[in-house]
Amino acid sequence: MPVLSEVFYELFTGLPRQGPGDSGSTVKALSLITPRPTAPRILDIGCGSGAQTFDLARLTDGTIVAVDNYQPVLETLRQRAAVLGISQRITPMNADMGDMQLPSHQFDIIWSEGAIFVVGFDRGLREWKRLLKPGGYMAVTEAAWLKPDQPADLFEFWNREYPAIRSVGQNLKAIEEEGYSIEGHFTLPDSSWWDGYYTPLEANVQTMRLKYAGNEDALSVVEATQLEIDLHRKYSAYYGYVFFVMRAL
Ligand SMILES: C[S@@+](CC[C@H](N)C(=O)[O-])C[C@H]1O[C@@H](n2cnc3c(N)ncnc32)[C@H](O)[C@@H]1O
Repeated sequence: MPVLSEVFYELFTGLPRQGPGDSGSTVKALSLITPRPTAPRILDIGCGSGAQTFDLARLTDGTIVAVDNYQPVLETLRQRAAVLGISQRITPMNADMGDMQLPSHQFDIIWSEGAIFVVGFDRGLREWKRLLKPGGYMAVTEAAWLKPDQPADLFEFWNREYPAIRSVGQNLKAIEEEGYSIEGHFTLPDSSWWDGYYTPLEANVQTMRLKYAGNEDALSVVEATQLEIDLHRKYSAYYGYVFFVMRAL
């Protein structure tokens, strides 16, 4: 019988991304970083299997330290870098984003798609700043309310899963309070939830429903994922992922 964390990881196996995101949004966020250092040193936090890491490698002449604490996704990333012949530019690093043992003031850009929620938005902004060179940039995506008066079932779900979710305006205020200037922000298109994420995830849900038939514990993990997808299908106007691009003051 698999432990529940294994069921959880199995759900995410083979997905192009492990959270909402899309290449177009990565390109757009990077375009907000001007002037952009030549050959920037980039730290990609919560990189997963590297969807955005490879976009950053393609779009810049820089080097990237790609941090995650789940070794299988780092291995996928390492193998893909080797196939693309860019291993010398991408360094996978297994570390806890809440305790990265890295020297201060090393990076021109910190990038984090769909992952800063793990430590919390304000804490990430505060603690990761020491890793930036003076005037360095940070680009992160974070879930945010797009409209007030959320339906009760949606509010209950987020209040249970991520009670720290706030409005876009509250996040912008937090960015300024943490000592950054706001270079720009935009909401990711709804397709960024589906194309590389929910559509393949929902296919895994269907496969795993059959595989774990009769295993109530495993099915509860699978059905919780289906609930999250169903809520998004119904209420995507109320919340979204927002790219925030900022510069350390
Ligand atoms: C939602 S996924 C986003 C992955 C990738 N950036 C993307 O958009 O496809 C969050 C990632 O954070 C990683 N993660 C979770 N907790 C972590 C921690 N404490 N330290 C480092 N990485 C962590 C997970 O393994 C996962 O790959």
